Amino acid sequence: MANLEINFAGIKAPNPFWLASGPPTNSGYQIMKAFDQGWGGAVWKTLGVPVVNVSSRYGGMNHRGTRVVGFNNIELITDRRLCDNLREMEEVKKHFPNHAVIASLMVQTKKEWQQIVSDVQNAGADGIELNFGCPHGMCERGMGSVVGQEPEVLETITRWVMEVAKIPVVVKLTPNISDITKPAQAARRAGANAISLINTIQSLIGVDIDNFVTYPVVENHSTNGGYCGPAVKPIALNMVKNCAQHPLVRLPISGIGGVENWRDAVEFILLGASSVQICTAVMHYGFGIIRDLTSGLGQYMDSHGFSTIDQFVGKALPNVKTWEELNLNYSIKATIDSKKCIGCQLCYIACEDGAHQAIELNDDKNDRIPRINEENCVGCNLCSLICPVENCITMIRKDDGKQSQSWKQRTEANHVPTTFNDELAGGLSHSVPDPMEALKK
Ligand SMILES: Cc1cc2nc3c(=O)[nH]c(=O)nc-3n(C[C@H](O)[C@H](O)[C@H](O)COP(=O)(O)O)c2cc1C
Ligand code: SF4
Ligand code: SF4
Repeated sequence: MANLEINFAGIKAPNPFWLASGPPTNSGYQIMKAFDQGWGGAVWKTLGVPVVNVSSRYGGMNHRGTRVVGFNNIELITDRRLCDNLREMEEVKKHFPNHAVIASLMVQTKKEWQQIVSDVQNAGADGIELNFGCPHGMCERGMGSVVGQEPEVLETITRWVMEVAKIPVVVKLTPNISDITKPAQAARRAGANAISLINTIQSLIGVDIDNFVTYPVVENHSTNGGYCGPAVKPIALNMVKNCAQHPLVRLPISGIGGVENWRDAVEFILLGASSVQICTAVMHYGFGIIRDLTSGLGQYMDSHGFSTIDQFVGKALPNVKTWEELNLNYSIKATIDSKKCIGCQLCYIACEDGAHQAIELNDDKNDRIPRINEENCVGCNLCSLICPVENCITMIRKDDGKQSQSWKQRTEANHVPTTFNDELAGGLSHSVPDPMEALKK
């Protein structure tokens, strides 16, 4: 039976699932309830000089009937007094000594940083997370993402914290930067014990097109906020991978961004995260999702023969290469299973207008099952992604697998296009219809 316990940079927890700093960790009441239901840890709603929030403060992006595929907020750090949070933190630790309580912090001066670090240590926190990520409101005050965007400032503040920290320190990074590994390296140089990512992505969730104001609306106005939820997962996965692969980072990673179920969590772990934090999914579905998370993860580990989380942290990383290392000779073609096909012809229109005109319709209008023209098919995957029937279009390998050659190798062999009209252009291998054919259809 899989053991879900983790030791994340010295912070022990019964499982890798932690509540990310946000509304679900606003109070001891919520965190106690979450631990009682099975959560392994919680990063307390960011503590600092308490703020005053606006209403409304959230916006959601719905997509074709699915609510909140993306979520946006203009909320700031805690609006509760430090003394109340610390008292509740102590209480939580008293009842749940084996669960991870991490204090998220955001203040300004060296004196404030060192004071609040000492306060949360005295309250029994197991770790500290430095919030260098919030992309709205706090950054205008010189905190949050403006620190995360300046590696040198991040390094200086982290050093202030490390001078007094007796418990592990996690630096939370902002995705609002072109190269996430730069602040990650700064965290490492400053002696931080771990990093967590991502915080929210600066965004406007939408515009009220009748009243000419963006969401969420505060009276008649609005402002940019932070984007999170399922839609940001691909961005977060890429940034986690970048940090995990970078030779000068080499810190434990807590993966955050769009996790809703155990599969999402496994993806983060396979790309190098050794704990996973969740905010939006809890705001959407409540603490009860922990049952799916822990049981699903346990079953996944059992079925793959992993007895501990450590055994598969980063297991997908060796397979993530640069583009120039990929095999250009690998060739796949689409195949339609005529028994499964429902004749919707969505694949035809997608390939005809949006890809390579490699799907043909029958002259007999009663036969709605399309055919693949293998010669034109470039194996892009589009039709198989579009097809509404599971496994109806599959991609079949056509090359013999014996002659792998990457762009890098072809460049070294002088076998790549280098001029505008080069005969080595990849597109010469499949035919493109004459433009006038378009008007005959
Ligand atoms: C309403 C809201 C408030 C948040 N407040 C904080 C905060 O106080 N401190 C912090 O570090 N992150 C905060 N976050 C960011 C989350 O911790 C998390 O990094 C982000 O939402 C991505 O994870 P998710 O997709 O699971 O929500 C907040 C997020 C939301 C939605
Ligand atoms: S999209 Fe799928 S189901 Fe629809 S016609 Fe194409 S192969 Fe058939
Ligand atoms: S894989 Fe791409 S090119 Fe081939 S048939 Fe499908 S959409 Fe067309």
